[in-house]
Amino acid sequence: MTGSGGIPSDVPPRVPFLDLHGVNNGRREEFDLAWKTVLDHGHFVGGSEVERFEREFATYCEAEACVGVANGTDALELILDGLGIGRGDEVIVPTNTFIATAEAVCATGARPRFVDVCPDTLLIDPAAVVAAVNSSTAAIIAVHLYGQMVDPEPISAIAAAHGLALIEDAAQAHGARHQGRRAGSVGIAAGFSFYPGKNLGALGDGGAVVTSDLALADRIRCVANHGRSAVDRSLHDLAGRNSRLDTLQAALLSAKLPLLDADNARRAAAMAAYREMLPRHCMPVSVQPGAEPVYHLAVIQVERRREVGDALTAAGIGWGVHYPVPCHQQPAMAALHEPVPVTQKMPVAQKFPVAQKFPVAERAAGRILSLPMSPTLTIEQVARVCDVLGGAL
Ligand SMILES: Cc1ncc(COP(=O)(O)O)c(C=O)c1O
Repeated sequence: MTGSGGIPSDVPPRVPFLDLHGVNNGRREEFDLAWKTVLDHGHFVGGSEVERFEREFATYCEAEACVGVANGTDALELILDGLGIGRGDEVIVPTNTFIATAEAVCATGARPRFVDVCPDTLLIDPAAVVAAVNSSTAAIIAVHLYGQMVDPEPISAIAAAHGLALIEDAAQAHGARHQGRRAGSVGIAAGFSFYPGKNLGALGDGGAVVTSDLALADRIRCVANHGRSAVDRSLHDLAGRNSRLDTLQAALLSAKLPLLDADNARRAAAMAAYREMLPRHCMPVSVQPGAEPVYHLAVIQVERRREVGDALTAAGIGWGVHYPVPCHQQPAMAALHEPVPVTQKMPVAQKFPVAQKFPVAERAAGRILSLPMSPTLTIEQVARVCDVLGGAL
């Protein structure tokens, strides 16, 4: 039996991992207007669209200032640099995160000091942070992974007790709260990414630093714009670089920001449906008391992930793994473990020696699986994913 277009009508429709078309289609008119406006006035870098979005996003995050930058990795690097963190310093980073968190630290000349995560949330483990602090530690990066904030209280207390800067990596947590506090309002500063697949995504790369430290915001704004003086364009006060949010992306982000809370609520509804319908052996990542996650990703832990993934793929259901290799095991981080010169003759295990073990993150890396998650995901689609999971297990 076939339906229109020759597609068999008894074949269930595919479930995309992320429905970017659905997310962006509802704003086509606003996007067209934004594009036309920018094309008409002809200011493609900086200007009123960027200033407007920065104001709106700072307000949204319940912080004093926002500086639009080129991407989320730059946001973190610029924060670290703005705080004077660099060569000789260590920055504590959870090993279960996207590599960008660690890359930003390395780019400043500082060293990431990886720590393990909590088994239930897979977020940075405060006890591991305490154990990792030493005389070189300058900062902690709390990564609000999968859309759930790191509990602000214990991590802020640790940072305060040791005189460390607390930086939030909020690339996956636009709009998340913990006991009323919003992602971006907890640390000295927060880095956000507007990569297209994020909860607030641009139509290209983009990022922001959010902070209530106005001097830090000024410094970052200056560095990100070639160190240019705010009063005299011909002067460059600081050794800077180019990391600016494009005017067009800022205009598009302003068009999308009013939809963010409703989109996040739809993600939460889809996650609630998953929790009801998931088979017994699929364990979703736990939500801490007081947390209001925004479910950037719907992460479960399963045995036999390969078979489960194959079954999902065969049923036309998109899935992913975030992240299959923890940062401390990434080849790019090998130099952190031992200053061994790498030669072609060395076996891989020697080329990339792993000095420390992080059992929670290492075990989770083999079991985590990210299910489809979008604001457009329907209860029927969730039910279909859960049926296929039930069959596979
Ligand atoms: C946790 C985390 N940190 C940082 C980044 C870096 O953001 P960007 O890709 O915009 O540089 C990402 C993006 O994927 C991320 O997920």
